[in-house]
Amino acid sequence: MEADKFKRYTVTAALPYTNGPVHIGHLAGVYVPADIYVRYLKAKGKDVIFVCGSDEHGVPITLKAKKEGITPQQVVDKYHRIIGDSFRDFGIGFDIYHRTSSKTHHETASAFFKDLYDKGVFTEEVTDQYFDEKANQFLADRYITGTCPVCGNENAYGDQCERCGSSLNPTDLINPKSTLSGEPPVLRSTRNWFLPLDKMEGKIRAYVESHKEWRPTVYGQCQSWLNGGLQPRAMTRDLEWGVKVPVAGADGKVLYVWFDAPIGYISATKDLFSLDSSEEYYMPKGKKGNWEDHWKKQDTKLVHFIGKDNIVFHCIIFPAMLMAHQDYVLADNVPANEFLNLEGDKISTSRNWAVWLNEYLVDFPDKQDVLRYVLTATAPETKDNDFTWKDFQARNNNELVAILGNFINRVMVLSHKYFEGKVLPAGTLTDADHALIAEIAQYPERIASSIENYRFREALSELMNLARAGNKYLADQEPWIVFKTDEERVKTVLNIGVQLSANLAILAAPFLPFTAQKLTDMLNFDLAAWDKAGTVDLIADGHQLNPSQLLFDKIEDDAITAQINKLQQSKIDNAVIEQEVIAAKDNISFDQFAAMDIRVGTILTAEKVAKTKKLLKLTIDTGIDKRTVVSGIAEHYEPESIIGRQVSILVNLEPREIKGIMSRGMILMAENPEGKLAFIAPPEGMANGSVVR
Ligand code: 2FM
Ligand code: ZN
Repeated sequence: MEADKFKRYTVTAALPYTNGPVHIGHLAGVYVPADIYVRYLKAKGKDVIFVCGSDEHGVPITLKAKKEGITPQQVVDKYHRIIGDSFRDFGIGFDIYHRTSSKTHHETASAFFKDLYDKGVFTEEVTDQYFDEKANQFLADRYITGTCPVCGNENAYGDQCERCGSSLNPTDLINPKSTLSGEPPVLRSTRNWFLPLDKMEGKIRAYVESHKEWRPTVYGQCQSWLNGGLQPRAMTRDLEWGVKVPVAGADGKVLYVWFDAPIGYISATKDLFSLDSSEEYYMPKGKKGNWEDHWKKQDTKLVHFIGKDNIVFHCIIFPAMLMAHQDYVLADNVPANEFLNLEGDKISTSRNWAVWLNEYLVDFPDKQDVLRYVLTATAPETKDNDFTWKDFQARNNNELVAILGNFINRVMVLSHKYFEGKVLPAGTLTDADHALIAEIAQYPERIASSIENYRFREALSELMNLARAGNKYLADQEPWIVFKTDEERVKTVLNIGVQLSANLAILAAPFLPFTAQKLTDMLNFDLAAWDKAGTVDLIADGHQLNPSQLLFDKIEDDAITAQINKLQQSKIDNAVIEQEVIAAKDNISFDQFAAMDIRVGTILTAEKVAKTKKLLKLTIDTGIDKRTVVSGIAEHYEPESIIGRQVSILVNLEPREIKGIMSRGMILMAENPEGKLAFIAPPEGMANGSVVR
């Protein structure tokens, strides 16, 4: 432990967007690892604060409000509570769960911006942005839809096509429309304030490169941003919902949501240490001390827990903001996780492909720790991982029940059966006793080292190894047989068994806080600090244990089948919705149809487009010419497998540049409700250039 270097800790967990409840992906990616880390630090007696809150600004919230016919404030009020309750229910022990719509946050973010503005940090730039003349407002990227130039999806957004995954600029869209009025938007110039990341690149690079110990996935993503060259980024937006830009001439503008959100960590800290009192559960103010120590003293260790989609904001942009302000510490580590998939598919809120935390607790009451356990054991620390209900069941039944639960249960039941729940003095120790005691002594440090290095999976598996050692000890010592001939020996075995149980309670507490509580209740033992673990002197001779209860119970097949069926139902519902969308397209005239020149062609060459996941660069013999087309099919076809295939190609689509390649035409694809793509081609060979009509 770096006791000498850091006197206090500030641990942050990404502020979730407040436009929906939280699901297992959030818990696995950010909140459970952060909570384990903090519970461990607190058990070590460290001065640590754990801050989080709701991210209540940003366009998705205004879109949700519009869709539901309510105000953005009503949206965030609703989800702030739902999300806050889920975190509380899963034992995520924030010291404060704040919110960015609060007064403290608006004041803090505004003052931060003003400070940088007064220091002359920002550059002002006038750019052309889409404007809706009917609604009389500038349009955020998400407020513009149109046809994706890559795959032809007619409902692509101004920042991204959700079908092919291409990231777009609003001006890339074909036939752009405002979602507010349905009208085509016009370009209008507007002034905004930019953070000149390009000019700050040297300092940012030096900072990142001083942290080669970061996870390779995090360090690698930073390097690739830096090597791609940093660009100035607008820190203000033409929007109504957000923190008003506190300078003259900025009416109708708010701070960019990614400028204000990380400042939310600071606002939360301020309120935590404020002298006001608060009745609100999530906002226990009045902590003794000084918020500034936790952000400005060089001996503070700042750690951000986030998901991988937030890396650039926490490793480049927020540090750049803090550097520009000048008196803040920078993050010492940013242990970002990769993504958790669900039953082989990406978790998706809009497709309801998720396990929602509030629903989980209805279906599995009191089983918070089972989910915490499974999500830690399969945490996507180094690569994306998959959650399956079968694995959830297996880990509960074969690990929690069969290893940890079984050990504790045997110790408790035997102690009650033979000695009425009394812990009796150990007699002479055997080699086996000494061996187990020596093993117990190693675990606190071993688990601590894994946690301090953000390897939570490894830490949890060490904890289970200790429980395994306990099971092996009981199996070898066979107290249930020895009791008939040597009662004294059984007193020793069970004394050691109880001591090991108390060790397990201390060491399991960061991972499984509910179980640790149950276990200490059973042991009639006050949970001790981490450093007390590692010995067999935790429980005094003559101590009375409380009645035994099971820590975990088996999860039967029915419960798992019900969850799998629930997910399957989401798939069916989505397929129906998608088909309805397709059926709902407007009629077009024959002339509009005839205007499309679709031909049969043959793929001559195919290769992946560098630095993209979805794009292939194809050369097509169209019968008229040989041309290049960029197509969003790389996740469906290996390039070498499609050379020589016939396809249908729209040849008179206006050429467009995609990732620096001029693409001429579009390959027609069929897409099923799961998003699988397949070529539309004549069943038997037709001459290239044959017309499709
Ligand atoms: O990705 C997200 O859900 C963001 N709301 C995270 C914000 S983290 C921080 F900067 F506040
Ligand atoms: Zn697309």
